[in-house]
Amino acid sequence: MIQINELTKVYKLTKKQMMEKKTKKNMVKAVDKLSLTARPGEIYGLLGPNGAGKTTALRCIASLLKPTQGNIKVKGYDTVEDSQSVRKTIGFLTNEIKLDPQFSPRYMFGFFGRLHGLDERVIEERREELFDYFGIKDFQDKKIEELSSGMKQKASLAVSLVHNPEVIIFDEPTSGLDIITARNVTDYLKHLRDEGRTVIISTHIMTEAEKLCDRIGIIINGVLVLEGTLTEILDRTNTKDLEDAFFELYKIHNKEEE
Ligand SMILES: Nc1ncnc2c1ncn2[C@@H]1O[C@H](COP(=O)(O)OP(=O)(O)OP(=O)(O)O)[C@@H](O)[C@H]1O
Ligand SMILES: [Mg+2]
Repeated sequence: MIQINELTKVYKLTKKQMMEKKTKKNMVKAVDKLSLTARPGEIYGLLGPNGAGKTTALRCIASLLKPTQGNIKVKGYDTVEDSQSVRKTIGFLTNEIKLDPQFSPRYMFGFFGRLHGLDERVIEERREELFDYFGIKDFQDKKIEELSSGMKQKASLAVSLVHNPEVIIFDEPTSGLDIITARNVTDYLKHLRDEGRTVIISTHIMTEAEKLCDRIGIIINGVLVLEGTLTEILDRTNTKDLEDAFFELYKIHNKEEE
């Protein structure tokens, strides 16, 4: 279970960042009073355009960023007060965390397994299962720096799941993957959901949200503008598919910002 209560995250910008962004403001409100609950046995999808605040929200849930305001509980553990327990409970994937380029997928998997306190036999079993499932075996002993971006993504996925986490937080999990591997990943997420895990992902791929997610939260400029099952969202926006629903919402909520 993930419970987000009025999460606001403000980044302070350095002078250099202000120049790069061509802005006079020294703060960016990346997430604005976001509340949501993701339950065991469901896949919750955060859907939003570039810069909407998806990665920021997921990093806060993963206890890697401190909320400016509000709080988050993961399986009852507060992400600020009890970040250690949160980190044991979650599997976190983002394309911003890089695996060490000098090491192999097999080495990294073992390293993170031991970090989570697993014994060698369990690590071995998990590696067999996950490397086989995600098709990593062919390149498991190559250096990370020699791998393609899709291969790296597969390795990151397996490493993030080494400890069989109860709560899965995946930032754009299928980014950079071919359709076969992308399907493997979404099937695996469904399997985790069916086992009763809590899964939250971010995406800007409409079909992924439609096909995979039990509930979808649409986030625009840091604000959760609408949440529900696909049917509920289509009903509320009086549209026929998620893309149309998204554009309807974007027209309304992006104007408000200007
Ligand atoms: N470390 C940071 N310092 C300053 N501003 C940041 C930082 N990280 C993100 N931002 C800003 O916060 C806002 C939200 O960014 P975030 O990365 O959460 O969006 P996103 O929804 O994940 O986008 P994308 O789809 O492109 O991954 C953006 O305006 C971004 O420029
Ligand atoms: Mg992002």
